[in-house]
Amino acid sequence: MRLAMVTIVVATGLVCTAWAQKAPEPRQLPNGKTWTYDADAGRDIMRTCAACHGEFGGGGGGGVYPRISGMHPDYIAEQLRAFKSRARENIPMIPYANDRELPEKDVLDVSYYLAAITPPKHPPSDDVTMDAFERLTLAKQAVQISRQPGDIAAGQKLYDADCMECHARDGLGRVKKPPLAQQHVPYLRTQITLFLTGQRKHEDVDELMRPKSAKDWDNLWAYVSTLDD
Ligand code: HEC
Ligand code: HEC
Repeated sequence: MRLAMVTIVVATGLVCTAWAQKAPEPRQLPNGKTWTYDADAGRDIMRTCAACHGEFGGGGGGGVYPRISGMHPDYIAEQLRAFKSRARENIPMIPYANDRELPEKDVLDVSYYLAAITPPKHPPSDDVTMDAFERLTLAKQAVQISRQPGDIAAGQKLYDADCMECHARDGLGRVKKPPLAQQHVPYLRTQITLFLTGQRKHEDVDELMRPKSAKDWDNLWAYVSTLDD
């Protein structure tokens, strides 16, 4: 009974991302079988991921482990495939992201399961009427990014010129362009290093390459860290 309740809360949340509302279409797997979404399987797989990414995929470890909840399912699935093929190198995930542990069926189930969890920006406030269990669940799903030091206005200028086109004005991204808002800043900083050193591929390297001092980057992250306020 408890478990069933978790599923309902997780699947519906309080607010829902647009892509999480539609049930995914069945599709053909590489092995010729048909995949239909299995939320229970998604939750089971997530137990393994939770060790690093948190019970509801909110990330953690001081921001080393990214938030993976509430992202577009196509983005999550694509990254998992990239980890499996080692096109994206991720040493901590090697034991989990391989064909034996995570066949394509599991990639899809866990991606849609995670996409359906919309992390609130704040734990629910005391005056909201809900039962204690629901309040606790939402508090655990919440992902709140702490303000980074820097010049927010200067950071916004850089963001608008170089990043907004793809990552969107609100920082929520779109489809395979991931959200920068409500993502842990230490993780985002690491990704920039990986992009700039060619260890991970970014769609428009030119815009990242446009000269930016360490101070520019600090300002940019200061702005990005306000996007979830
Ligand atoms: C041992 C720790 C660990 C486990 C377990 C783990 N991950 Fe990760 N995961 C990481 C780390 C570290 C990164 C960030 C890698 C980097 O900096 O590029 C990551 C990155 C990701 C990303 C990329 C997010 C983005 O914004 O691009 C996705 C998606 C992801 N993990 C999904 C999963 C799923 C699904 C599972 C369970 C099947 C899982 N992970 C299990 C450590 C882990
Ligand atoms: C032309 C489109 C485009 C522009 C412009 C762009 N990005 Fe991206 N960005 C992407 C795409 C696509 C990805 C996903 C890459 C992949 O598939 O692994 C991404 C990924 C990222 C990631 C990794 C997020 C994660 O969850 O792993 C960060 C950080 C990032 N971009 C920062 C920036 C910043 C900062 C700027 C501006 C200086 C910028 N991007 C400009 C398209 C863009």
